[in-house]
Amino acid sequence: MHFLIPAAGSGTRMKAGKNKLLIDLEGESLIYWTLKSVFSASSTNWVGIIGQPKDKNLLLNSAKEFAQKVHWINGGDTRQQSVLNGLIALPKDAKKVLIHDGARCLINPELIDLCANQLDENEAVILATKVTDTIKIVDNEGFIKETPDRNYLWAAQTPQGFLVDRLKKAHKMAIDKNWKVTDDASLFEMLNWKVKIIEGTYSNIKITSPIDLKIAKLFVKNPS
Ligand code: CTP
Ligand code: MG
Repeated sequence: MHFLIPAAGSGTRMKAGKNKLLIDLEGESLIYWTLKSVFSASSTNWVGIIGQPKDKNLLLNSAKEFAQKVHWINGGDTRQQSVLNGLIALPKDAKKVLIHDGARCLINPELIDLCANQLDENEAVILATKVTDTIKIVDNEGFIKETPDRNYLWAAQTPQGFLVDRLKKAHKMAIDKNWKVTDDASLFEMLNWKVKIIEGTYSNIKITSPIDLKIAKLFVKNPS
């Protein structure tokens, strides 16, 4: 399975003054933990890491164990552009790809393999969890408009897996139509292409704000 790891963000919400994937978690960088899980999955055989050129040495040095095994790809201004750069850089024979955010460093390797296997029967899959909060849709003035039925709400995570040709086509359509999305499954939805949900775990958080680092500490040496 081919793997693309978007790691080209700037971590604005983390307020660390650097790419949040360089932050230390229990003695190793966040990107180290992500790569450790990805390389522990038996389905993994090619890994591309998508980063800003200025972060290349920092990211690779912070995960030395994997530096020789990963393919470096320059990222773009948005996650969407970074993923597109990754797709273009895949080897020509790549049929399927799993996209996994560098910021989800607690992913369990078994869940990676589950996504990879499910891609045998589906054109697109994503890991997601049932939403436990009651979610409100709110207007610009800060008043509630409506409350969607929670039974239909899932929180999207990564990995997200796709047939490479399809995902490339979806990204090209997005450029033509000026669609802006924060995950790749969104493009499939907009095209009315099917995306299968695979139930994941609540521990697979995206490290976004400082509080997430405290939560990650509880899980990092014992992923579930
Ligand atoms: N990402 C990327 N290229 C970008 C922006 C984001 O590859 N231009 C990656 C991030 O490195 C991260 C993942 O996409 O692994 C999810 O993005 P997010 O959690 O939003 O990270 P940042 O964009 O770094 O954080 P922020 O939005 O707070 O600035
Ligand atoms: Mg971002």
